[in-house]
Amino acid sequence: MPTEQGNAQDPFRPAATGFGRRRALLAAGAVLAAGVGAAADELARDDRTAGRATTGAPPAEAAIPFHGARQAGVTAPQQPATYLLSFDLPQTSAATGRKALRSVLGALTSTLATAASDAPPDPRLQGGGATRLTSLVGIGPALAARLDLNVPASLEELPPFPGDRLDPRRSNGDLLVQLCAADRWTLTVVAELVGGAAHAVGAVPRWTQSGFLPHTAPGTTPRNLFGSKDGTANPDHAAAEQWVWGPPGAHGNGNGTVLVYRRIRMDVTGFAALSESRRDRAIGRRARDGVALSGTAEHDEPDIYAKNPDGSYVIPATAHVRLASPRFDGGARMLRRSYSYDDGPTDRGLLFCAFMRDSAQFTRIQNRLAARDALTPFLQHRASAVAYVLPGAASAGTLGEQLWT
Ligand code: HEM
Repeated sequence: MPTEQGNAQDPFRPAATGFGRRRALLAAGAVLAAGVGAAADELARDDRTAGRATTGAPPAEAAIPFHGARQAGVTAPQQPATYLLSFDLPQTSAATGRKALRSVLGALTSTLATAASDAPPDPRLQGGGATRLTSLVGIGPALAARLDLNVPASLEELPPFPGDRLDPRRSNGDLLVQLCAADRWTLTVVAELVGGAAHAVGAVPRWTQSGFLPHTAPGTTPRNLFGSKDGTANPDHAAAEQWVWGPPGAHGNGNGTVLVYRRIRMDVTGFAALSESRRDRAIGRRARDGVALSGTAEHDEPDIYAKNPDGSYVIPATAHVRLASPRFDGGARMLRRSYSYDDGPTDRGLLFCAFMRDSAQFTRIQNRLAARDALTPFLQHRASAVAYVLPGAASAGTLGEQLWT
């Protein structure tokens, strides 16, 4: 089973602690950091964490509740370190498989809820302040089809794309768990607990992958290994309600979403050898400040129709942000919460993680990128997965209760 490493610090934690400041930051910054699409959900979580805060334990350090309408691994502000685990279930009859899945989801719910609590019993999770653990659990398309689960109608594996060099040992899977936390230590410990709990009820580990973000000032956008700010054009709360949550075609899934994961190796040295102007034109934004070539501030929407006096486009025809623009997709948006990874000098890149209602949106964009994106010569897609991210579990509830209806 392939495994990898990573670590980083929290880029989105407010510099000043205190509930008031954090609440204001979340409300006012709803268009900024990844995770903003569910700012309201996060405010509700903060209300609950604030109630438990004591002197000497600042609210920004409080645990992020596991229970809620939506899984915290999508809604909470992006954490600095991630760890993904994929599992398979044995191929059995549908009835036996459903029973096995219920057991696995029960085990994952209790393990993740306990690990995310204020006082996790494992001594390795104690003594260093709250872990700030968040998680999400998703169901892969093959399992959903095998067990005839109540999942969105459009849930399916991605088609092959030109240039794909996917490693099946690092791709797909029946169940996907994404952990995020303030540090790598927490993730290693919780991954071991999750792996043990899932294995005890019959799940088979398939792959794991770790990732990290750079230290970034609160409310600002983290950079990827090409040096670009990545996550600027994420949807605000209203757009996320429209485009991210509630994939159609299953009962009770208004609080679910679809995760597309791609492990993309980046030729960091080759890209760095380009002039600054060529790098900026390849992205369509200036690396220095993240501003679109057509704009003056980071959060100005890229104007893909703006032209230079000579008639050429200000954002070039092969620029990444042009080809990924929602304007080619009827306004459809995705919530990107990507991480960098480093598995050795020749294998570094981006763990592209994006949430959307329908993976067809990813397919449309990726087909355009594969054909024309100026970044494409510097990228290799090496692994891939799609998962239906389940709605959250109510207190005393279990993840996946909607799957059987
Ligand atoms: C290693 C590969 C990639 C890199 C380095 C990269 C980098 C970037 C950067 C720097 C931006 C501009 C800042 C921002 O809005 O976040 C951006 C925007 C975006 N990217 Fe990527 N990206 C990669 C892969 C992908 C893939 C595979 C997709 C989807 C198929 C994608 C979809 C988007 C979208 C939808 C936007 C926002 C466009 C907009 O609304 O202006 N990216 N990406």
